[in-house]
Amino acid sequence: MHHVTVIGDSRANPKALRKQLAGILDIDFAPIEQALRSDPGASIIFDVDLSNDTSLLNLKEWLKRKPANAKAIFLTDKASHLQHSRAYALGATDILHRPIDGRELLTKLWGDVASLSADPNNAAIRKSPAVSAAVNTLQSIFSSACLGGPLNSLSIKSAGEAIVGHVETQGLTAWIDTVRTHHSMTYQHCLLVTGLAVAFGQQIGVSRADRQRLSFAGMLHDIGKARIPLAILEKPGRLDEDEMAVMKKHPQFGFDALGTMPTLPAEMLDMVVHHHEYLDGSGYPHGLHASEISDLVRMITIADVFGALIERRCYKPPLSGSAAYQILLDMGPKLDKDLVRAFQPVANLGLHQS
Ligand SMILES: [Fe+2]
Ligand SMILES: [Fe+2]
Repeated sequence: MHHVTVIGDSRANPKALRKQLAGILDIDFAPIEQALRSDPGASIIFDVDLSNDTSLLNLKEWLKRKPANAKAIFLTDKASHLQHSRAYALGATDILHRPIDGRELLTKLWGDVASLSADPNNAAIRKSPAVSAAVNTLQSIFSSACLGGPLNSLSIKSAGEAIVGHVETQGLTAWIDTVRTHHSMTYQHCLLVTGLAVAFGQQIGVSRADRQRLSFAGMLHDIGKARIPLAILEKPGRLDEDEMAVMKKHPQFGFDALGTMPTLPAEMLDMVVHHHEYLDGSGYPHGLHASEISDLVRMITIADVFGALIERRCYKPPLSGSAAYQILLDMGPKLDKDLVRAFQPVANLGLHQS
């Protein structure tokens, strides 16, 4: 039987965990204070209270010392966004919901060769300052949005500028390759949409200031998802009608979260609250029509739809750039035809990505 060490604090319940893992994994339990005195190993599992800031103070620094391919898996409560974002902010490579399914834990720890090489502790992300700045910013804004706290517009702006510079100098393909190694689907989606929107702006020759607006909005557009229950957000399949009704609240939640940034220009709020509006009036939350939807919103919407299509989800493989682009074409009157045509070269870059 495989043997692992679980690092926990006073809130951990090694007895319950042993019971859940019986016959699959043999566990040793190490108190966090003691564990942090030695070096991190290759597979680390944490069962700690993620709301206790004091006890977690040293954990982030300690985790930075773990070997490049080490796994750091945090056990969290399924319904807690806050625990998820905190775990990733501390350096989690993965999370697992309580009660623990031993086989799922085994897969996450060792998995198959393909999944091990696809999730190498985000080495690619750590090597790219633009991506790691963007990831750090997303972690902090999603945490703040969960708590209803203020968002730091300066850090979002500087991360947004770094993305514009990265896409300008290294191209969209490199951006997508790196972003796809990120383990959080929500962050990966935001980063992908940001890169696509910036490349789109570059493609059609909008000003650098507008590309920065697109970058800023790309990162923030789904911030309202911080208030959508994870059971809905991460459901491995189609949402039912009631779940979809809840999901459709995320643009308004995003708008509300941005209310904590009083100096935010109106066009930013517009992009966040209206990124699911369609020109034919069939979108949400306000059912706007073409004349009410700005060009920047139209661009974010195209990048958002395309980004979601080329993403890998646990329930669907990523579409190729050409298949995803065909879906944009098939959406007909919902999207701006001229902009969709102008997006084709950007979509073609996606051809190499799947
Ligand atoms: Fe959205
Ligand atoms: Fe989105």
